[in-house]
Amino acid sequence: MAKNQKWILKERPTGLVDDSNFLFIEEDLPEIKDGEILIQTEYLSVDPTQRMWLTDMPGYLPPIQIDEVIRSGGMGRVIASKNERFNEGELVNGFVGWQTHLISDGKGFRKVPELLPIPTMLNVLGLTGITAYFGLLDIGQPKEGETVVVSGAAGATGSVVAQIAKIKGCNVIGIAGGEEKCGWLEECGLDHVIDYKATKATKEIRRIAQNGIDIYFDNVGGPLLEAVLYQINQKARIVICGAISNYASTDLPVGPRNLSSLIINRARMEGFLVLDYLERMDEAIQELSKWLMDGKILHKEDVQEGIENCPSTLNRLFTGQNIGKQILKI
Ligand SMILES: NC(=O)c1ccc[n+]([C@@H]2O[C@H](COP(=O)([O-])OP(=O)(O)OC[C@H]3O[C@@H](n4cnc5c(N)ncnc54)[C@H](OP(=O)(O)O)[C@@H]3O)[C@@H](O)[C@H]2O)c1
Repeated sequence: MAKNQKWILKERPTGLVDDSNFLFIEEDLPEIKDGEILIQTEYLSVDPTQRMWLTDMPGYLPPIQIDEVIRSGGMGRVIASKNERFNEGELVNGFVGWQTHLISDGKGFRKVPELLPIPTMLNVLGLTGITAYFGLLDIGQPKEGETVVVSGAAGATGSVVAQIAKIKGCNVIGIAGGEEKCGWLEECGLDHVIDYKATKATKEIRRIAQNGIDIYFDNVGGPLLEAVLYQINQKARIVICGAISNYASTDLPVGPRNLSSLIINRARMEGFLVLDYLERMDEAIQELSKWLMDGKILHKEDVQEGIENCPSTLNRLFTGQNIGKQILKI
């Protein structure tokens, strides 16, 4: 009989999460029935959106309920199967949750060929890479020679956005926190990097983007969005991918106070969800794989270890400790 260790929600957190917001439980799993598979979790994808699912605000997916296992994407291995779609030993991708094992009817799980290390597949070829691909190319629609600014640029989504923008011949400015992140972005070939923690971002953006900004790929919202809006060009596209500065904040969200810049510049601000692109996922994976193999996209994975570290690993996204894709190996 398999044992499962899992984290369930005990109370809704305020600010950063704490172990005490959750309960860590060990349980015996029943034998699988016809049509079911037993999955052993190998890697969790740690994503900012999980912090939003811990609130009781309605979102694009329902909030995680008290006593429910914490929802999380990830990769696991089928270790027993009574479902004809899956064989023992196969790697699968889907919502595995903060737990070591789960029983599923297989719906929502996709078989994954093991062509690359799992953390890389969860990064550039995973949902954040696909978000970067469609967010920039479909919503941002970059043209050669345009200036693209990316916030959260050393993160999973941002680092891929910035490098695709380079591939498309754009002048790319990345905004990230700290020397190490900025140094890596220079290695990735960005034209300019702004350390928003060490400089006054509004001043730096004005200094570096003297010819204005055509696309802003926003991962963080708040003061940086406001800073960029002061410098946009006519017909600029503001791609609203995320607003991480708000997700774990205990204060009221900040700004932007200068939305009139959109009017003056006939600019467009548009939010999007990667989930709307799942049917076109293969197109993105094909293109991203090619760039990855050709060395045109550099990548980093920050792999923490241990089921017991789920809450603290989630916090790394909000304290800026991760470089590249945050992963937890179970
Ligand atoms: N629309 C969609 O479908 C979709 C899909 C995936 C992700 N997203 C969004 O994309 C964004 C990035 O997600 P990711 O998974 O790639 O995470 P990530 O960028 O790898 O990690 C989060 C980063 O955000 C930065 N950050 C944290 N708090 C901040 C603050 N107060 N101000 C400015 N920056 C802050 C930190 O970098 P620094 O050290 O540089 O501050 C941190 O490393 C998130 O907003 C997420 O919700 C949206």
